[in-house]
Amino acid sequence: MTDAPVFDDLLVEDREFPPDPVFAAQANVRDPAIYARARANPVAFWEEQARELEWFAPWSRAFEWTPPHCRWFLGGKINITHNCLDRHLAGPRRNKAALIWEGEPGGVRTMTYLQLHREVCKFANVLRSLGVVRGDRVAIYLPMVPEAAVAMLACARIGAIHSVVFGGFSAESLSDRINDSECKVVITADGGWRRGTIVPLKSETDKALESCPSVNHVIVVKRSPGEPFPCQIREGRDHWYHRLMEGPAARAKCPAEPMDAEDVLYILYTSGTTGKPKGIVHTTGGYAVSVHATTKWVFDIKEDDIYWCSADVGWVTGHSYVVYGPLMCGATVLMYEGAPNHPGNDRFWQIIDDHRVTIFYTAPTAIRAFMKWGHQHPAKHDLSSLRLLGTVGEPINPEAWMWYHEHIGRGRCPIVDTWWQTETGAIMISGLPGLTTMKPGHAGVPIPGIEATVLDEQGNEVKEGSGLLAITHPWPSMLRTIWGDDERFVKTYLSKWDAKTYFPGDGAKRDDRGNFMILGRVDDVLNVAGHRIGTMEVESALVDHELVAEAAVVGRRHDIKGQAIVAFVTLKGRAKMTDSLRDDLKQHVATKIGAIARPEDIIFTADLPKTRSGKIMRRLLRDIAEGRALGDTTTLADASVVEALRESYEEKYGG
Ligand code: WTA
Repeated sequence: MTDAPVFDDLLVEDREFPPDPVFAAQANVRDPAIYARARANPVAFWEEQARELEWFAPWSRAFEWTPPHCRWFLGGKINITHNCLDRHLAGPRRNKAALIWEGEPGGVRTMTYLQLHREVCKFANVLRSLGVVRGDRVAIYLPMVPEAAVAMLACARIGAIHSVVFGGFSAESLSDRINDSECKVVITADGGWRRGTIVPLKSETDKALESCPSVNHVIVVKRSPGEPFPCQIREGRDHWYHRLMEGPAARAKCPAEPMDAEDVLYILYTSGTTGKPKGIVHTTGGYAVSVHATTKWVFDIKEDDIYWCSADVGWVTGHSYVVYGPLMCGATVLMYEGAPNHPGNDRFWQIIDDHRVTIFYTAPTAIRAFMKWGHQHPAKHDLSSLRLLGTVGEPINPEAWMWYHEHIGRGRCPIVDTWWQTETGAIMISGLPGLTTMKPGHAGVPIPGIEATVLDEQGNEVKEGSGLLAITHPWPSMLRTIWGDDERFVKTYLSKWDAKTYFPGDGAKRDDRGNFMILGRVDDVLNVAGHRIGTMEVESALVDHELVAEAAVVGRRHDIKGQAIVAFVTLKGRAKMTDSLRDDLKQHVATKIGAIARPEDIIFTADLPKTRSGKIMRRLLRDIAEGRALGDTTTLADASVVEALRESYEEKYGG
């Protein structure tokens, strides 16, 4: 018996949206032969893409594969920031906006490519003056401000490895991540604005650093002109960013360090099926190639586009498609600091209207929230500048797709539904807007150069019906390992079937034309509002509470967030099952991990359903949380437990 979730794959979607001929005629990819060309020789195809970037020295071998490890562009020397910045400085592009930033309380800052280059060079020299050298790890814990991009690029410029931690994570999550990769420096801010309140990043950092012996220096960005937000500056360890940038170390000349294609560019932590997040390792050359090519193909990006991806730089989408991809392509990137509903529910549409945004990329969870708020909000604004829309992070339900198409795209804009992961570094499955007939709820086909299929548990190809998504050949931006844990890397991704087939952890099915429909995670990872959260992480946070004996966490469907966290908790001794304890436990998880992991429902129970060997039967807990008929209960040690649980769940949350 498997413990995998049950998929609703009964949905039949027959609405189709072929490319508009006018769009198709100007698209970056117009010739469908690109797919066959890539398939005929994927390595040669990726070499062709790599030649679109500037290398300091060519590679001697394009690809080497000793499973489980692949390497791309061996011997090649490159710096991604040279491709994001320097190569745009030769012509008039140097004076166009690289970044346009809008703060939540208002205020717009614009940086041209020349200005951004200068800022990055100065900050790279500042980092060096604090002792950061090639290969050192630097943690970045910032709000969505231009300095976040500057900090990432400055690290990459000198070959330091950045580890960006989402500003919504708690002090404890931050310190775990800092310690796992032994960061030397942390770059943070006095605070950032979110929904009208200040997120106190510096004080969280201070808490985190109580247990981070590797950190020597903290650089603090002052978020606003004038007085800083309340925070403490510890002499010797902490430095204001603006002071350093005015100081003698901040020289404006800083040639980009020639990096080996396989040198690590960054680490980004993501949730897995154990309590400990995984430090996903990306290297330089292959990552740059995949991200550059996909930005160009999928978003059809052009010189004069104003491109806005609403993801935070703390997630992989913010790495690949806020910072590196669009800057390598020389586009203008819009960055917005705050919430979509501040001060009003039309903030995003106001931004698109004001800045004449042409390409907009967001998550289905945001689209479902916009739907709930009502189409009168976008209707108030001129959205005629938009020419392409995208989604990422979770399956999009066809209803949300149609709403996005009608009320934001006004029926004119192609929608790209892009499937990928932190581990893949770049988009893997997506329609190409000039070629593909889009189908709501379907991500489309693997992009040129990517080979994906659907397999069953045994590794047989599934032609009809649902199975497991599998990638059958390495791609340039494939994760190279998990930081410090090669064994976990192999076990998680390259041992489901064999050492050559990558297992992303998602279910999928294909239609008769090979379009993939992604069905969601098949492991113990939840997708809450587009964010990956490991059930084990939440369980560990719960059992960390002094009154909790045992906890089991599952997901249930949620209209806006996609999934919501449901925790089944047994208490110690005589602890009382009160509403106030329930609230305490929710807060405890938020404090331990971050507000994104706060459970929606907490069910107290005297027992958890277990097999005779003592394994918690999550499948039954999922059935209870979803209000479904209970599946097979014959392996339960004590069948009365589930009935009692179901009753208490229905009593509390209406089933
Ligand atoms: C899910 C985000 C359906 C999937 C870039 C994957 C999607 C996980 C889609 C990765 C999509 C991402 N359709 N599901 N278009 N895009 N997912 O690492 O379950 O934060 O494994 O990367 O999000 O999340 P991550």
